[in-house]
Amino acid sequence: MSHAVQTPGPLRHFLQFSDLTKDEVLYVLNRTRLIKDKFKRYEPHRPLHDRTLAMVFEKASTRTRVSFEAGMYQMGGSVIHLTTTDSQLGRSEPIEDTARVVSRMVDVVMIRTFEQTRIEQFASHSRVPVINGLTNEFHPCQILADIFTFIEHRQDIAGKIVTWVGDANNMAYTWLQAAELLGFTLHVSAPVGYRLDPARIGSVKPGVLKEFTDPNAACQGAHLVTTDVWTSMGYEAENETRRAAFADWSVDEDMMAHAAKDALFMHCLPAHRGEEVTGEVIDGPQSVVWDEAENRLHVQKALMEFLLLGRLD
Ligand code: CP
Ligand code: NVA
Repeated sequence: MSHAVQTPGPLRHFLQFSDLTKDEVLYVLNRTRLIKDKFKRYEPHRPLHDRTLAMVFEKASTRTRVSFEAGMYQMGGSVIHLTTTDSQLGRSEPIEDTARVVSRMVDVVMIRTFEQTRIEQFASHSRVPVINGLTNEFHPCQILADIFTFIEHRQDIAGKIVTWVGDANNMAYTWLQAAELLGFTLHVSAPVGYRLDPARIGSVKPGVLKEFTDPNAACQGAHLVTTDVWTSMGYEAENETRRAAFADWSVDEDMMAHAAKDALFMHCLPAHRGEEVTGEVIDGPQSVVWDEAENRLHVQKALMEFLLLGRLD
């Protein structure tokens, strides 16, 4: 039965990547393998029978909505989809009150919003697990999917080099948390004005982060090259300025040639061909963007199962 307080052990949220320990991330990734394999065999996996997921979208989405919604139904549960405009959030109901009410009625909440503080406020008044479906600061479900995808193609990510080309945005900061947790190196190259903020990153373990002025140099030896839109949601007013600033940070075949021969290319999507990546790269042989997108479904099923039921092995 769904009574919104059934999580075994203490209430857990996934508001940023570092909310999970390394061991828990590895558990979720292992579970993802099992859940994905069952899905491919059309074998039912319904551990969340009778559970309800509420999704709150304050920004647009295709992948996040479809993957959470399909995933919850596939696990035997049901889903409620809310947006700012069709809920009282759009008429200034405090986020804390929304959290108190919604979390008495459902078993898990996914939120896509603007400031990280907003999802933190929600979580601190929620009786049930809250999952970050993207904020201005982080996109942890995407990085979970990206790492699963990398492991699917290349076995292990520990000790590898991941190169981030472009805006030091929510994706880049989440990659950094993952690198620190899982033991790989993150190379970052961004134009002046769009680089990682030292105040935000604080102290990082030695060998985890290397920053580069030149994106080609950042790609040297990389096992994975990844990028994202030049203008994230919420920053549209800066579109023209960003287009000029990022012109040399477009991932093309020449840039990919600096990476390891068998380097993969990822992009969380949606992509703008001809801006942050060329069609030749994103539609080329090194690109795994469609696996990456599909894996959102599988990792989030494993994540919801973990947050609601704990470890099952
Ligand atoms: N990558 C991603 O989160 O896509 P959507 O914005 O379509 O959800
Ligand atoms: N950095 C992008 C990711 C979109 C999935 C954004 O925040 O808009």
